[in-house]
Amino acid sequence: MTDERRTVLVTGGAGFIGSHAARAFLDRGYAVTVLDSLVSGARENVPAGATFVQGDIRDEDALARACRGAYGVVHLAALVSVPESVQHPEETLDVNVRGTSLVFEAALRAGCKRVVYASSAAVYGDEPSLPKREDSPLRPQSPYAESKVENERLAERLAARGLSSLGLRFFNVYGPGQRADHAYASVIPQFVARAKRGEVLSVSGDGAQTRDFVHVRDVADALVRALESSTTGVCNIASGTETSVAALAALIQERYPVAVEHGPARAGDILHSVADIEHAKELLAWTPRTAFSDGLAELLA
Ligand SMILES: NC(=O)c1ccc[n+]([C@@H]2O[C@H](COP(=O)([O-])OP(=O)(O)OC[C@H]3O[C@@H](n4cnc5c(N)ncnc54)[C@H](O)[C@@H]3O)[C@@H](O)[C@H]2O)c1
Repeated sequence: MTDERRTVLVTGGAGFIGSHAARAFLDRGYAVTVLDSLVSGARENVPAGATFVQGDIRDEDALARACRGAYGVVHLAALVSVPESVQHPEETLDVNVRGTSLVFEAALRAGCKRVVYASSAAVYGDEPSLPKREDSPLRPQSPYAESKVENERLAERLAARGLSSLGLRFFNVYGPGQRADHAYASVIPQFVARAKRGEVLSVSGDGAQTRDFVHVRDVADALVRALESSTTGVCNIASGTETSVAALAALIQERYPVAVEHGPARAGDILHSVADIEHAKELLAWTPRTAFSDGLAELLA
């Protein structure tokens, strides 16, 4: 019996966002192939029912095999740590820029109809206007952020060659499955893990810095909608609300009465981040459904 389902290739599908995305596509009736080198992802994250190919996006043979017969590509594989990109810019640029270019070329060659790829709020950098709109100026502050700006440029050129694409500028994604066990873990998994161990929460500076936290299941839903739409260009994916790091710590303290200490402010830390999400609402009919208090409570349970 032939498989009549549409196939989508998810690069980075063994990672945090990718594994939720793979599950969301399976739930909507797609066949899913995951291509992942497991450099930061894990085999057990790949949902049952997806076909797993272990390989690097820079390996053209592995890519061509993974793209064969795919209707679309959801490209999430990347080196994601900003501090590591500062320490090892060549490696970040090689994976995130050359690797992305190879993914786009493979999708074109395989006759895929649609590419959706991960960009990032990092492209806005420390440009002070708020909320961030898709037409806000870009001021990337790190090789990681520059790699995402370059991905957007590469995607623009795809349009002229007949491949429709949309870049999603994710803000601070959080939720189940996010790693807390490495030096550059994001603030939520770091704080949740520390609170569960009864350890002090270390807030950099006064904690007034704000972030726009968006739940990973909402992000997975946005990825499905993005693949199914014909909208091109770039689109913010965020909650549209600001939460300060101090408020996050206070919410965690309501569940786990741990101490909070304030360390020095981190050099180069962006003070405030919040997105305008009208574009996603209008063009993808997407709206974030998980209230921050509910998403956090689930992690703290
Ligand atoms: N998590 C966030 O808050 C956030 C915010 C903005 C943008 N993003 C972007 O979303 C995407 C997914 O991020 P994530 O948070 O799930 O990170 P993650 O590290 O959990 O996932 C990335 C995945 O890519 C894989 N990978 C890395 N290099 C590879 C290579 N050369 N070949 C094949 N696979 C490779 C890793 O093994 C991992 O499974 C990334 O492109 C990231 O830049 C994430």
